Amino acid sequence: MYDQAQGLREIIKKQTDQTLKQTRIITVTSGKGGVGKSNFSLNFALGLIAAGKKVVVLDVDLGLANIEVLMGVSPKNYLLDLIEQDKTVWDVLEKGPNGLEFISGGTGFSHLLELNEVQLNRFFEKMAALNGYADFVIIDTGAGLTKQSLSFIMAADDVILVTTPEPTSITDAYAVVKLVQASEPNVRFKMVVNRVGSPREGKMAFDKLALVSKKFLNLEIASLGYMHDDSHVSRAVKQQTPFFLAYPSAIASLGIKDLVHSYLEGNSQSIYVPRGVKGFLKRMISHMR
Ligand SMILES: Nc1ncnc2c1ncn2[C@@H]1O[C@H](COP(=O)(O)OP(=O)(O)O)[C@@H](O)[C@H]1O
Ligand SMILES: [Mg+2]
Repeated sequence: MYDQAQGLREIIKKQTDQTLKQTRIITVTSGKGGVGKSNFSLNFALGLIAAGKKVVVLDVDLGLANIEVLMGVSPKNYLLDLIEQDKTVWDVLEKGPNGLEFISGGTGFSHLLELNEVQLNRFFEKMAALNGYADFVIIDTGAGLTKQSLSFIMAADDVILVTTPEPTSITDAYAVVKLVQASEPNVRFKMVVNRVGSPREGKMAFDKLALVSKKFLNLEIASLGYMHDDSHVSRAVKQQTPFFLAYPSAIASLGIKDLVHSYLEGNSQSIYVPRGVKGFLKRMISHMR
């Protein structure tokens, strides 16, 4: 009898290990600033939550209109507080609306580089508690080609590249793709065209970037879709309430729903296995160094 119970326990443990979900890390970035990354990150996160997913947003955008401001919430703790002995990841996880949780990167992200191996490992282990807790960690990065943004891009499971239809936004996005491709050819870019006037404008913007990426870098960029230019977005920004919650039937919110659907649909058809929180952090640090 004892042997049977033992065997059963082993089978159950094995099954649990196999089904323990790996959190998928999505980095949201763009070539230039002001294209709608933070608004997209926050509302896309809420869209994923509405689709039944558990989402944590990591805010490393040091701009003024960061997601905390967009939600009207001020964090009490910051990511790097984790370096302190007695803090756990649950202490730095702040609550937003509708079950959304977020971690504020705060300033001084580069202090991570000053940690010794023991401190860094402790930081990794604490963050690793998030693995399997969240289905997705969405990282809202600052714009452009900073070393920090690039390391988040290169370490992520998915990279969502936000542009507007403006030619400058598209060429700046291409600059990011080109630079990343040079050192990390396997990065999976998915493009979102924000502030379009029509679906056709969104398609044309995507085609431009996809075409040059294919032609000059031999790289496939996926399209997630587009979001309309919608005055509800700036209205919601002023109200410090995410537009997806304040104006659920606005065209921008319907756009988020489509983007969430297209993203989840793409994942379900892919054989790619996410590499988890700890793997992400290790790759990120190695790219920052
Ligand atoms: N789909 C949209 N329609 C209308 N205005 C938008 C849209 N997306 C963004 N904006 C405007 O652009 C501003 C900047 O957006 P934000 O998300 O802060 O950009 P980023 O994070 O890329 O700097 C917002 O405050 C809003 O006024
Ligand atoms: Mg921003």
